[in-house]
Amino acid sequence: MASLDGPDDQRPQNGGEKAGLGTRLFDSRFVLAAAVLVLAVAVAAFSLPMLYALAGLAAIAIASAIIPHPSARRRLAGQSAGAGMSPDASMKSVTDALLHPAFILDHDGTVRYANGEAARRFPATRPGDLFTLTFRSPELIEAMRSAAAGKAVIVDYHDHGEDAGVYAIAVNPLHRAGSGQDLALVILEDMSERQAIARMRADFVANASHELRTPLASLSGFIETLQGPARGDPEASDRFLAIMRQQAERMRRLIDDLLSLSRLEMRAHRTPEDRVDLVATIREVLDTLAPLAAELSVETALDAPDEPVEITGERDELVQVFENLIENGLKYGGSGGRLDIAIAAGSAGAGTAAKVTIRDYGPGIAPEHLPRLTERFYRVDAEASREKQGTGLGLAIVKHILTHHRAELEFDSEPGVGTTVTLTFEPFGLSTGGGEKV
Ligand SMILES: Nc1ncnc2c1ncn2[C@@H]1O[C@H](COP(=O)(O)OP(=O)(O)OP(=O)(O)O)[C@@H](O)[C@H]1O
Ligand SMILES: [Mg+2]
Repeated sequence: MASLDGPDDQRPQNGGEKAGLGTRLFDSRFVLAAAVLVLAVAVAAFSLPMLYALAGLAAIAIASAIIPHPSARRRLAGQSAGAGMSPDASMKSVTDALLHPAFILDHDGTVRYANGEAARRFPATRPGDLFTLTFRSPELIEAMRSAAAGKAVIVDYHDHGEDAGVYAIAVNPLHRAGSGQDLALVILEDMSERQAIARMRADFVANASHELRTPLASLSGFIETLQGPARGDPEASDRFLAIMRQQAERMRRLIDDLLSLSRLEMRAHRTPEDRVDLVATIREVLDTLAPLAAELSVETALDAPDEPVEITGERDELVQVFENLIENGLKYGGSGGRLDIAIAAGSAGAGTAAKVTIRDYGPGIAPEHLPRLTERFYRVDAEASREKQGTGLGLAIVKHILTHHRAELEFDSEPGVGTTVTLTFEPFGLSTGGGEKV
């Protein structure tokens, strides 16, 4: 454990030696009273000369003042390790106002105060405990030495305990006005989430670049071929140009999806306000995708009430949701030859809520993939998805939009049987159970 002892060690203690004489005489008051009594009896009963009696009393008084008394020693020790080092009320209230866990330590590194957040997050580190008993790190010990010398330091700290995390710990010198005693204010900022977000961002950029690089490499390859070996070969040119068109289309889709995600992120704080009829919206999406369904020989069936099923939402965003989910049902579940879509209005009292299910009879999705489906660029079979012009961003966009609409997305899938996707718009609140909420 680092001691915060620094140059401050040479400081006189509170009420140091000068006050000590008076204090020691006061502590010896009972001894002195007893001496006065004994000497008075000796003077009266045994005719002890008054001069001797006074000299004896003076000798006892001087001895009491010079020899440190045990209780005075205790009090001096107490000043450095206990009450004298306590933070005052204003320090405590400033510490309480901090949003992060914060501790006030004395010069020995003993916790003298923990704010509410610190008590909640680190219940094992209580006032009276050595701070570095829980937070063990040589850098932290060094930082505490620097704080004792008047220098604020920030160190990274990796917690390997139960509540593993990464913290930035700021150790600041804290001068207690009037006391001559310095304390240290230690603030812990949890960096785990920020680091996870930074990692996700880096992964995202890496994935996006990788996805763009593949069609780009293919395009450049074909351009070289057309300029070189295939020059003047109309048949080869037609074939290669068709592939190049496909690759360019793939890049366009990817860029559209990336822009879509970033627009959604920017609008995430906006609450949807429009009234959207799910029946009309889904009918429209089915019309748009009718050519794809025909191409893949999938029969689509819509089970919906005659009257509108309205929810509060953003129409264009909901079109994107149903386009992707129905397209997925056709592309990945098309082998079943059928796609059933059902729309149900919420309970009468609920007003705007509804439930939509999209069911295919395709190969299904193995359970280990279900929790990851809405991750950006996650694909069960990346190659198969790429062949189908998939970017792996569709369900990430769907999830984003549904969160924005406070709706729930649930996948029920059984390999070999098919997949059912259920969307529950609040406050309908019904759960089909057994599925994987993502
Ligand atoms: N109904 C389904 N049946 C089987 N697999 C599915 C189904 N829906 C989605 N998947 C799997 O989930 C993956 C992610 O789907 P998502 O919609 O996010 O991406 P994508 O369809 O590949 O690309 P995009 O939607 O951008 O065109 C798909 O690649 C596919 O492997
Ligand atoms: Mg998709």
